[in-house]
Amino acid sequence: MARQRPGRAKSIGLGILGLGVVGGGVYRALSQKAAVLAERAGGPLTVEAILVRDLKKGRAVQPPPRLLTTDPKDVLGNPRVDVVVELLGGEQPALEYIQEALRSGRHVVTANKDVLAKHGAQLLALGRERDVGLQFEASVGGGIPIIGSLLHDLLANNLTAVYGIINGTTNYILTKMAREGLDFAPALKQAQDLGYAEADPSHDIQGTDAAYKLAILATLAFHTQVRPEDVYREGIERLASRDFRYAQELGYAIKLLAIAKAEEGAIQARVHPVFLPQDYPLAKVDGVFNAVQVEGDLVGPLLFQGQGAGALPTASAVVADIIHAAKDIRQGGPATPLPLLNDSRPVRPMAEVRTRYYLRLSVSDQPGVLAQIAQVLGEQQISIASVIQKEVYEEAQTAELVIMTHKAREDAFQEALRRLALLSVVSEVGNYVRVEG
Ligand code: NAP
Ligand code: HSE
Repeated sequence: MARQRPGRAKSIGLGILGLGVVGGGVYRALSQKAAVLAERAGGPLTVEAILVRDLKKGRAVQPPPRLLTTDPKDVLGNPRVDVVVELLGGEQPALEYIQEALRSGRHVVTANKDVLAKHGAQLLALGRERDVGLQFEASVGGGIPIIGSLLHDLLANNLTAVYGIINGTTNYILTKMAREGLDFAPALKQAQDLGYAEADPSHDIQGTDAAYKLAILATLAFHTQVRPEDVYREGIERLASRDFRYAQELGYAIKLLAIAKAEEGAIQARVHPVFLPQDYPLAKVDGVFNAVQVEGDLVGPLLFQGQGAGALPTASAVVADIIHAAKDIRQGGPATPLPLLNDSRPVRPMAEVRTRYYLRLSVSDQPGVLAQIAQVLGEQQISIASVIQKEVYEEAQTAELVIMTHKAREDAFQEALRRLALLSVVSEVGNYVRVEG
């Protein structure tokens, strides 16, 4: 692609791939704020072509029909397109189109966490090789400016931890369960009825979406490649209304937390439900909101909070990336530095991670039961911090025990769970949740 001479205010041509929720928001922002965005980008931003699947589909925005196409070549091979804005979602064909755009010397802006988490390092290398930028602020946390902060503003720090509530669907469901005493299935149904959860919400509720986003955040925070498969993940399906009741009584909120920590020579990367002390800022992030807490050696703790999804919040991030790309083009290359992944710390296996645990058991209500349970835990070097007998079901002669432990290794805890389930006095291992903070 021909580069522009510095300072020249010719219009920058945009080729948009996808006109769904985010593409629609981006088109709306580009149209409604054209004058101010041109001023900030140093010249007009002109949409030259938009790729969709279905030309006849009703849409929230109505670009001139001549811009819409179902042929990717009209965007990727269009000489008027300087920046390709990928908003299709999913791994393919988005990956192929991003690669083609970078190879042809076009700058790329994307909101695609799947592609970034799985192929980010390779795409950044391709961008560096072709001297073009790849920007992806909207891939994590929607409108929250966390990627730019990690890439630029926090560079003076050695970051020690990143904690994120980075999936709005699950945070909405957990907030409903906590506030209204709902079990998981009716809370999910409400989220689907309101359009927060997709018809197939498995990526969100199983923690996959958050794991992809954490892989991106951890890679940037620790300058080392963390792949989605390196991130341990558990979803929220096991949680029951009684876990929320006990958590509240004990002074905790339950959140699906994405956790990345730097330790001696290694990194922890995991996504699972946690008990968080109620007075922690992240414990108070409710509904569809997202938040990311970062800890740096110079800056200390920082909290970013905002709308992690939706047409306009996500467009806020995408359009800012487009402006950066436009400025880079005017300056003759990617002034916006691409991240260097020059560290190589391994990700610690989950089995070796040490945390505290909440454990809920249904047991026979008879003498000697606690001693048997304490013995199993003791043999695995798991120290009990507190035990409360919560409910007694007289007809069934069972009781519910809630045990809070001190820190223990994950593999020892899992072995203890296996052995507890074999005890004749344990009728059910109800649930367990790790405790942070
Ligand atoms: P969406 O509503 O499903 O829109 C996808 C768009 O891409 C549609 O316009 C669709 O065309 C088009 N498309 C998909 N596959 C195509 C193909 N093979 N060929 C041509 N067109 C194709 O998705 P979205 O919610 O906007 O999400 C877009 C991206 O942003 C995803 O990577 C997502 O993870 C990310 N993101 C979304 C949000 C959010 O709030 N939704 C927030 C942050 C990041 P048709 O319209 O013709 O079907
Ligand atoms: N499904 C995601 C969420 C959308 O619920 O947060 C933004 O990536």
